[in-house]
Amino acid sequence: MKIVKLQVSDLALLNDFIDQCGTSLNTFRYFNHRPLKTIQNHIITVLLLDATGNPIAYGHLEQEHEKVWLGICVAENNIGRGYGKRMMEELIIQAKLMKLEFVFLTVDKSNFAAIKLYEKFGFNPIHENEIKVWYQWRLGISNSEI
Ligand SMILES: CC(C)(COP(=O)(O)OP(=O)(O)OC[C@H]1O[C@@H](n2cnc3c(N)ncnc32)[C@H](O)[C@@H]1OP(=O)(O)O)[C@@H](O)C(=O)NCCC(=O)NCCS
Repeated sequence: MKIVKLQVSDLALLNDFIDQCGTSLNTFRYFNHRPLKTIQNHIITVLLLDATGNPIAYGHLEQEHEKVWLGICVAENNIGRGYGKRMMEELIIQAKLMKLEFVFLTVDKSNFAAIKLYEKFGFNPIHENEIKVWYQWRLGISNSEI
């Protein structure tokens, strides 16, 4: 298992990941309306690779105006094996290293697995509409995972 930081020159690997995401793309819709090369604007983009180099989980931190947003996705065939947790650990470590004061994300209200994961990592709900919840993580607020 290996974590790699993606550069815009690694889009083929990102494309491989998207190709095997399957139903995970129903709830991770980030690339539905963005080209893959948008990762060049991220603070960090990471992939978790299995022992054969196959990408199984994705994560990013992206600055949009004054806010930093987190995105995460585990490919359908690898859900429920601890890789989401591993990816969250990596992104939170990076956020702490960069001394980011806040990290934000949105999640579908029906995405119970993701919500449970985010709350374990210290994200708190700050806003909601009929479909989604907005969550915030704040530097210095302790959580059980790190
Ligand atoms: C949400 C997602 C990232 C979780 O990753 P995962 O690898 O499946 O989860 P893990 O195996 O690492 O589990 C970590 C924690 O998440 C929670 N969790 C995972 N699956 C769950 C489920 N089916 N029901 C409730 N909680 C669940 C648990 O708290 C779990 O910790 P525990 O095993 O100690 O109880 C993954 O399911 C995914 O990528 N889904 C599709 C894309 C997506 O929805 N991305 C998020 C968009 S906002």
